[in-house]
Amino acid sequence: MEQKIYITSPIYYVNDVPHIGHAYTTFLSDMLKKFYTLEGKDVLFTTGTDEHGQKIEQSAQKHALSPKAYADKISLRFRELWNEFSIDYDIFVRTTDESHCLSVQRAFEIMYAKGDIYKGSYEGHYCISCESFFTKTQLGANESCPDCGKITQLVQEESYFFALSKYEKPILEYLKSHPKMIAPAFYQDEIINFVQNGLNDLSITRTSFEWGVSLPENPTRDDSKKHVMYVWLDALLSYLSPLGYLSDNAKMPYWEGAIHFVGKDILRFHAIYWLGFLMSLSLPLPKHIYAHGWWTRDGAKMSKSIGNVVNPKEMADIYGVEPLRYFLLREMPFGQDGDFSETSLIERINTELGNDLGNLLNRLYGMSEKYFDLSIDSTDVRAYFENELEQLHTYIHNALEKMHLMQPHRFIEELWKIFSLGNHAISKYEPWNLIKEHKNTQAMALLALIANILAKGSILLYPIMPKNATKIARSLGLDINAKSFESYITKNQLLPLITLEKIPPLFPRLESKPKQQQTHKEKEEVRENLLDIKDFHKLDICIGTIVECQAIEKSQKLLKLLVDIGENKPRQIISGIAQHYTPKDLIHKQVCLIINLKPAKLMGQISEGMILASSDENGLSLLSVDKARKNGSKIS
Ligand code: ME8
Ligand code: MG
Repeated sequence: MEQKIYITSPIYYVNDVPHIGHAYTTFLSDMLKKFYTLEGKDVLFTTGTDEHGQKIEQSAQKHALSPKAYADKISLRFRELWNEFSIDYDIFVRTTDESHCLSVQRAFEIMYAKGDIYKGSYEGHYCISCESFFTKTQLGANESCPDCGKITQLVQEESYFFALSKYEKPILEYLKSHPKMIAPAFYQDEIINFVQNGLNDLSITRTSFEWGVSLPENPTRDDSKKHVMYVWLDALLSYLSPLGYLSDNAKMPYWEGAIHFVGKDILRFHAIYWLGFLMSLSLPLPKHIYAHGWWTRDGAKMSKSIGNVVNPKEMADIYGVEPLRYFLLREMPFGQDGDFSETSLIERINTELGNDLGNLLNRLYGMSEKYFDLSIDSTDVRAYFENELEQLHTYIHNALEKMHLMQPHRFIEELWKIFSLGNHAISKYEPWNLIKEHKNTQAMALLALIANILAKGSILLYPIMPKNATKIARSLGLDINAKSFESYITKNQLLPLITLEKIPPLFPRLESKPKQQQTHKEKEEVRENLLDIKDFHKLDICIGTIVECQAIEKSQKLLKLLVDIGENKPRQIISGIAQHYTPKDLIHKQVCLIINLKPAKLMGQISEGMILASSDENGLSLLSVDKARKNGSKIS
């Protein structure tokens, strides 16, 4: 029987529209679905939106909408974007779906019946942005959230608790005996350390607001109506509810092969709380939790408050969905942070997609059209190019290994070695010379080697760029599916006799940023030149009064000024402002100047500073202060 695999992306909060980080995790999930499908596995992939909780309730209020109306609106934005990006999800789960709410309530009852849920009173700090509880000792300065830095709220309310502490040992033992569960491995070590420091029971219901799944009615609890579920209990169960958990036609066999993709921001919820809940529900634990780092902009995490969020739709409109997808998967070393820059995006499109891959295909078209009428015969590849074939198979083997280790960036790196192999073979064996020397069989074998490289390469490229990969494969007379994967990747077969069907260039060169993007580019350049405040403080800028001023002989531009900046004697400054001011205009004027520049010599005169001025096409003005200040006062 086919092995079943279940892939999940996080379900995203509807407090904000999708950004590049959400797109990345969703691309990763879709990539892995496609990869495993090619490997012949039966894969189910779910994504969705997280719609309950205090954060959403507050956002809805800000937009003067009911929480449900607000959630409907933003949830649709996510779904539309994934559709536009051709994300092949099987189920889009919303936590406001009735079937989901039912699953949550049923799960709650199971945990309750098991004695893992008890009533108490919670007192502690809560971060609404992270929807997370913290003890006082965990907080940062000013009672801020240790995860996101926002100010937490002191919460004191009646609550049901989940006996997470009871599962401390089992979780620890499980993680220790399954060292590959969380990848990259350093995250697993991090979680083990965290659990080793002890787990507290977790408050899993709230009474101070209403926007959540209500507690199921139960005669042994008279206060069910007062409580709603803690949003993370609700959210994590969205991994089970799409499988119809605790309903009549549940597809639980998929659960045995569960793989969660998460950003490192939410790893703890998945690698600790979720394991506790699943143990309490007597369900198997996920096979893998794959955690990636953050997309940053100039080193800072993207966030709405900083205003450095990249809009994935905007990028896709400019560069295309697949080049964007390629870039995200290639640029970020899985698990670590990655910086988003359009400059590197363009660079990768031009060099890797355009030169390495696109040109290889075009060279194949050009030569096989000229010499062989576009027909390709692989009969003699083995005889002439055994070494290259062996190398090709090694790269394929390595690429597959990287994907199984969840290192997509390395997978792509190996895949590009395959295309480089093709380009090198052309430069090395020079088919045009082979033809001149009448070595037609060898020339055909060489072009067939290239065609096979592109065929196998396109199959491996499919999870990364499905549409482009399909176009390349079709042009080589090939369909990409589990069957062709088996023949050309697993069994190393070569192409049958084919006739190439030419397609237009896939990745036209981008000369610079496309026009409509110019303002972005400019903004980006400004951002890339941002200074640390320390750099500003290196400048010594102050107020001074011009006490003497005279023209410099033979110079039309320069004036010699003596400026009192509160030192023992005035500074001599040579300034290129003679065409705009006469000495008479300037005497006794207060100006702004930089006083810690290295002295410079102009027309034989020493200048020990620089007067600040601003000019445009209408002239030049000196900077001054709007009320007189003591000479030497700092500008800061
Ligand atoms: O946490 N870089 O939803 P969320 C990379 N609803 N990935 C990023 C990112 C960034 N700068 N910002 C966000 C939630 N992401 C919960 C999840 S799951 C049961 C509940 C991605 O809308 C990354 O996958 O805040 C991160 O974990 C997720 O979006 C958080 O999305
Ligand atoms: Mg978040």
